[in-house]
Amino acid sequence: EKAGHKHFMAKEIAEQPIVLADALQAYSTPDGKGIELPNGTLDFTKCDRITMVACGTANLACQVAKYWFEQLAGLPVDVDIASEFRYRKPVISDKSYALFVSQSGETADTLAALRYAKDRAAMILSVVNVPESSIARESDLALPIMAGIEVGVASTKAFTCQLLALAALALQAGHQRGHLDDAAMAAHMADLNLLPGVLNQSLAQEKAIKRVAHKISTAQDVLFLGRGAMYPLALEGALKLKEISYIHAEGYASGELKHGPIALIDKSVPVVVLAPTDDLFDKTVSNMQEVMARGGKVVLISDAKGVREAGDGVWETVVMPQISPFLAPILYAVPAQLLAYHTAVAKGTDVDQPRNLAKSVTVE
Ligand code: M6R
Repeated sequence: EKAGHKHFMAKEIAEQPIVLADALQAYSTPDGKGIELPNGTLDFTKCDRITMVACGTANLACQVAKYWFEQLAGLPVDVDIASEFRYRKPVISDKSYALFVSQSGETADTLAALRYAKDRAAMILSVVNVPESSIARESDLALPIMAGIEVGVASTKAFTCQLLALAALALQAGHQRGHLDDAAMAAHMADLNLLPGVLNQSLAQEKAIKRVAHKISTAQDVLFLGRGAMYPLALEGALKLKEISYIHAEGYASGELKHGPIALIDKSVPVVVLAPTDDLFDKTVSNMQEVMARGGKVVLISDAKGVREAGDGVWETVVMPQISPFLAPILYAVPAQLLAYHTAVAKGTDVDQPRNLAKSVTVE
């Protein structure tokens, strides 16, 4: 049932091009040039804010989506951790849509947060992998992510499929609200249609990532850096690594480095920099140079152009395929997952059933 893989996690990472292609088809118009939701319709001109709530990796998908909704649709977005949201008495206007993201659809805190929002928000939406789950049943519209069953405790394909569904929603919102004209929409759809193939190419970097993983498997601490929508990806890379390899890892927004974390840098701390070439690339590179100037060992994950422009001095590089900046968070999830996976394998930990963790957290 692991289809020739050593672990479910490896199988689920490898499946991503296929499940994403299926999900993309489900969220596209038949001609592939527009967005059409698989099981209902939404009107984003009727809301003035989106409140997103989730836990763990699903929360990090929401944090990426915040960048998308703001940039593509001009919609303000709040992102909350469900366990905080449910007890904070958050103010929810009746013109806001509340959106809950959960792989299992049974996470206790996320479900409680949904119930809190129920009579307050204009609409309760969810993005779930299990269509018959409690969160799906209690939503006005439950959008499926179509990742198929995810067995590994570390979420992989569910994360990228959550991102795909959220990207589709952000594009639809942008189009409906007049932020994206037909041409811009067509360009984004063309990029989206390339995604499964590009993801497949990124899996070919597994050997390079394995080499890096062996080197970081002896580290005590690892930092992940990213800017813009790559910042939540840095958080996800760190979460994945600590979850299955038990190495202490933290993700930071690159620009926050000099406000504290740079004090941690020395030659024993690998720093993984997630930096596709985009508008913020030069800024990330200068943060990277600050790390190297203090003896930090940089693992640069970028495209060929980025690796070239970053120059000498990096400890290790992983070369990713070129991708539109909008979709980079989906693509860069793959090396983050593979890095955690191979580090855990090198350390001999229980990859699919890491200690102290459950696949579905149904108690608070
Ligand atoms: O089923 P959910 O998506 O609601 O679960 C949320 C988190 O418990 C989950 O993403 C957790 O953080 C994963 N183990 C991360 O890999």
